[in-house]
Amino acid sequence: MSDHGSHGHDDVPAGEGKLFGLLAEYDTPGELVDAARKVRDAGYTDFDCYSPFPVHGIDEAMGIKRTILPLLIFGGGFTGLVGGIALQWYCNAYKWGWNISGKPTWSLPANIPIAFETTILISVLTAFFGMWALNKLPQVWHPFFRSERFGRVTDDAFLIGIESDDKRFDLEGTKQLLIDAGAIAVESCHKDPDLSKAVMPKWLLALIVASTAFALIPLAIAAKARNSKSSEPHYHIFPDMDFQPKFKSDQPNDLFADGRSNRGEIDGTIPRGSLNADDVFYRGLEGGDWTHGFPKTYPDGREFVIDDKLVKRGQNRFNIYCTPCHGYDGNGNGAVPQRVKLNGGAWAARNLVDPKADVIRMPNGQLFNTISNGYNTMMGYGAQIPQSDRWAIVIYVRALERAQNASLDDVPADQRTNMPGGTMGGGK
Ligand code: HEC
Repeated sequence: MSDHGSHGHDDVPAGEGKLFGLLAEYDTPGELVDAARKVRDAGYTDFDCYSPFPVHGIDEAMGIKRTILPLLIFGGGFTGLVGGIALQWYCNAYKWGWNISGKPTWSLPANIPIAFETTILISVLTAFFGMWALNKLPQVWHPFFRSERFGRVTDDAFLIGIESDDKRFDLEGTKQLLIDAGAIAVESCHKDPDLSKAVMPKWLLALIVASTAFALIPLAIAAKARNSKSSEPHYHIFPDMDFQPKFKSDQPNDLFADGRSNRGEIDGTIPRGSLNADDVFYRGLEGGDWTHGFPKTYPDGREFVIDDKLVKRGQNRFNIYCTPCHGYDGNGNGAVPQRVKLNGGAWAARNLVDPKADVIRMPNGQLFNTISNGYNTMMGYGAQIPQSDRWAIVIYVRALERAQNASLDDVPADQRTNMPGGTMGGGK
């Protein structure tokens, strides 16, 4: 039985350690598959085949079951999904809800990207470490390593190893089975009597201990930081964009006499296209006083025509920008003042159409200026509303005033007889 190589089945002297199992060599991959099938049919379970390359059909012959790894990965992915959603719910909706632009603190769509990431993360980790665990890796030592025959398994040997732990194992019977299955050699393998020599190489152990200790340093730093107070600025391990070679507007800067980084506009400079020379159009001024009229032209030279279209545009802009305070009819009773009243306060926007109030007599230019720059507690809308739209609003305010202060004279003569009661409400 020891015609192959110089080592017979008993080259490991008896008493060198507990019996680990039997190692049988076969000549060809085909014979290995046949032998594996016979060993399986004899009822063995604790055995394995070793070959220099994958042998087709060997898993079927050995009766290896399909791996449960996909199930584990599914479980990992599911855990990641539920965990990711729960984490976000806990942080954003339960423990520390923030009102950001009135958005709900809990809304599934917003949580999908992170839930997706955690699903992938835990599945991948399960796949990676699950594969290692199911293959019992990392395995740095195995009793078969003591056999010289086994050293050839990466080269030209086809081996079956049966462990003595198998409940069917019986030294003589099992040996006979392997020989009957066509083995060209069978040898017994023993565990290392001195286990301390069989464990990990010292340098590997040292490496693991050192890297574990090293990995604990960040945790230790975090733990210390959480349990102590300091007035020092914190460490910037990753400075991100916290420090940049630039001056922020409110930072000091001793290059300039006034010590500020922020430089104002240089007196008298006007950006291209911003001369805004037309006093009437841009400022509502005519000869240094508020204009009572309207601009004659737009800056691009078009004629300023007061027509239905312009009034409609004015209505549209007024309804957007002015109604919250002044109301749709301009009475100064918009949603904001109503809300203030509801809460027991008193705050009113100006009535723009009251015949006794000033707005009606206010020059167009001043009304334009109020929209541009605001007045007392009313903010200016110059930044939001371009000049042409401000003028459209001025016209619409005039239309509102007229509509709510109309007299019989405003009604065409042939229509006056149709009027209920002969007059209009709210007239002069
Ligand atoms: C956020 C609320 C608010 C909005 C929006 C608002 N206003 Fe006013 N407005 C006020 C208040 C309040 C006053 C009275 C200010 C004061 O007297 O202190 C006022 C006053 C005025 C006056 C009288 C100014 C004066 O000199 O007496 C005019 C005209 C006016 N608003 C027009 C408008 C127009 C046109 C718009 C839309 C572009 C507008 N407001 C949007 C709150 C608002």
